[in-house]
Amino acid sequence: MKTIAASAPGKIIIAGEHAVVYGYPALLAATNKRLSLELSVSGKLPSLSSLKAHNLAHLVKLVKKLPQVDKLKIHSDIPAGSGMGSSAALSVCLAAAWLKATHDQPSQEEINELAYQLEKLQHGTPSGGDNTVSCYGGLLWFRKEIPAVKVFKRLADIPEIKNLYLLDTGKPAESTGEMVAQVADQKKAQPKKIVNAFLGMEAVARGWLELVTTNNQSQVEKLIKDNHSYLMDIGVVSASTQELIQHIERTGGAAKITGAGGKSNHSGMLLVWHPNSKKIKNLSLSKLLLSQKGLILNR
Ligand code: PMV
Repeated sequence: MKTIAASAPGKIIIAGEHAVVYGYPALLAATNKRLSLELSVSGKLPSLSSLKAHNLAHLVKLVKKLPQVDKLKIHSDIPAGSGMGSSAALSVCLAAAWLKATHDQPSQEEINELAYQLEKLQHGTPSGGDNTVSCYGGLLWFRKEIPAVKVFKRLADIPEIKNLYLLDTGKPAESTGEMVAQVADQKKAQPKKIVNAFLGMEAVARGWLELVTTNNQSQVEKLIKDNHSYLMDIGVVSASTQELIQHIERTGGAAKITGAGGKSNHSGMLLVWHPNSKKIKNLSLSKLLLSQKGLILNR
């Protein structure tokens, strides 16, 4: 019997969510929240794609039923379905453990590619950014040219960006796939408006790139505010989340969603910048902790 242990981080999208699905760049960062998985197997495993699962939860169920699988244990401290990359971390860990069990030394590229296939199972047409940052860790500049060609650069150091927090608005009613589909519908209905918002988000992502490479932090507030207004334009922020963000802005801060968002009720996790967090002490902020660590795989 072989036992394989894998763990991978969740993420936030600092800039470029949704636009990244259409080939615009995004800046993503791995967080200190992680998912871990332990797989014990004996005998030859089938390929994950041959199991014909409908989504990740179904895949996990099917894997657990295989006669070759003695144990599959998953533990996560990444909030699920809130734009923090929990499904990507699961995809990366499952892909890594599966490949390690079937051939001894899978490369990070192979693992990331299989994780992308699992993300497609979960989300339909994801960009691949979430699984890539979970696999490699750190701060990642990412761009999907076409589904088969994604380019990314892991930026060397994560500067300490001051006054950044997370705030949970609650789990959205819509899945990532549904939010991506809503944006696609909007783009069909109002192509000019949506493309303009994507171009604005690209400018924001490039502003962040400048910021993290030069560590000149004077533009953080503007970048987050601009990004939020483009996210409003593409319709991925609910009315109650918008009210909350306006409250944060009125007290001197800025905030935006960190993933797919949500329209009807909650919008998942927010990235909040506030130079004086006492002014919003009624909100349950937690300090944003980023991490250099990506996938850790051992046996
Ligand atoms: O909410 P999450 O963690 O599933 O992030 C989705 C990010 C999107 O840009 C909306 C989709 C994608 O595939 O990049």
